[in-house]
Amino acid sequence: MDEIVIEGGARLKGEVRISGSKNAALPILASTILAPGTSTIYNVPDLIDIKTMGKLLNHLGAKVDIETGRVNVDVTNIKNPEAPYELVKTMRASVLVLCPLVARMGEANVSLPGGCAIGARPINLHLMGLEKMGARVEIEHGYVKVKAKRLRGSRIYLDIPTVTGTENLMMAATLADGTTIIENAACEPEVSDLAEALKKMGARIEGAGENIITIEGVDSLKPINYSVIPDRIEAGTFMVAGAITKGSIKIKDCIPGHFDAVMAKIKETGVEITEEDGGLRVKGVKSPKAVDLKTMPYPGFPTDMQAQMMALMTVAEGMSVITETIFENRFMHVAELKRMGADIKVEGNTAIVHGVPYLSGAPLMATDLRASASLIIAGLAAKGKTTLSRAYHIDRGYEKIEEKLSALGARIKRERE
Ligand code: EPZ
Repeated sequence: MDEIVIEGGARLKGEVRISGSKNAALPILASTILAPGTSTIYNVPDLIDIKTMGKLLNHLGAKVDIETGRVNVDVTNIKNPEAPYELVKTMRASVLVLCPLVARMGEANVSLPGGCAIGARPINLHLMGLEKMGARVEIEHGYVKVKAKRLRGSRIYLDIPTVTGTENLMMAATLADGTTIIENAACEPEVSDLAEALKKMGARIEGAGENIITIEGVDSLKPINYSVIPDRIEAGTFMVAGAITKGSIKIKDCIPGHFDAVMAKIKETGVEITEEDGGLRVKGVKSPKAVDLKTMPYPGFPTDMQAQMMALMTVAEGMSVITETIFENRFMHVAELKRMGADIKVEGNTAIVHGVPYLSGAPLMATDLRASASLIIAGLAAKGKTTLSRAYHIDRGYEKIEEKLSALGARIKRERE
């Protein structure tokens, strides 16, 4: 297993290009199942999770060809409705093939994703929606087996605005008989991007990106060429990296409108963010001010940026109260940050952070994707050397992160453990 080694203290300078969004690419790749033929998806980041989705589609009978940034998916001969535990356990987002399989083949046999480091991650709302659309859902031996000759349109209220739940049910509804209304739908930009791809296939969708989405079922969909949106969480992660190192970096190929809450919070610390010919300029300050934050469904502050902001708060001036409302165990980065000298106290789903003058580098262990990002950010600013083991966690969601950071002047490298 690889480890990332950082010599802290370098101020980041220069430009960084944001890659395509992992959380847009994954549902869009799954959606190609709905449209017999070959779809080509562009601006796909080179990540472990994308490769896993490719393996899964292959297992279902698709021909998948992944080249840098482009994925060809030929789903003409999809014939196996089973997503096995061996694949699903490595990536929870595998559940996104569930509804496309039911809509395309009338059945699916998908291993339950199981929990992960940040929480139990149930899919009860995905299954509730399918049952409302007339599917027979059974759970046995750790698999969810779904059968439906043809799904029928239904009115579905989601108790929680689940992102992949909204995406799954929107995909199911595209080929259902009649109209489906999803209420309390997730509004994330990745949901909207999936809707755009589905509409390009011929789906009839209104309201994606808002709380109520209406989908008029059609008889068939056709394959597409489609380019996914940039990754707003990668953009936010680099903004925080620029801020904590008191550097000045330009973020290119991002869509500022996708992360207003993140920009607002970073600006609240005193860090300067300005639009600069097609990108964003981020300028760090001598000592950022502590701010409070609470993670919320979009357009609120994203849970996927909580760990990264906490790293910045560990060296901010004052006390910051950080509340995680989306996942039950998303403070795995706290113990490691404390080993670097951070002053953090966790009470339930709230972390109280008192800024300290500096962090010191230490040997650390990655536990999950965004916790790893948080520890890399902390290592960039810490005095001395930080080593982060189990670097595969970071490779699940960030494309060539150490190359991008060293191009900005960070003293960072990857070593084979
Ligand atoms: C998506 O996960 C993202 N993953 C996550 O990004 C992100 O953190 C999350 O949305 C929240 O924004 C992808 O898009 C591939 P949820 P998802 O369903 O869809 C509960 C990353 O770092 N819930 O919106 O799995 C659930 O337990 C990853 O890139 C149910 O109770 O998240 C959680 O508490 C991590 N029942 C809350 O809802 C359900 O049926 C939000 O989960 C579904 C969800």
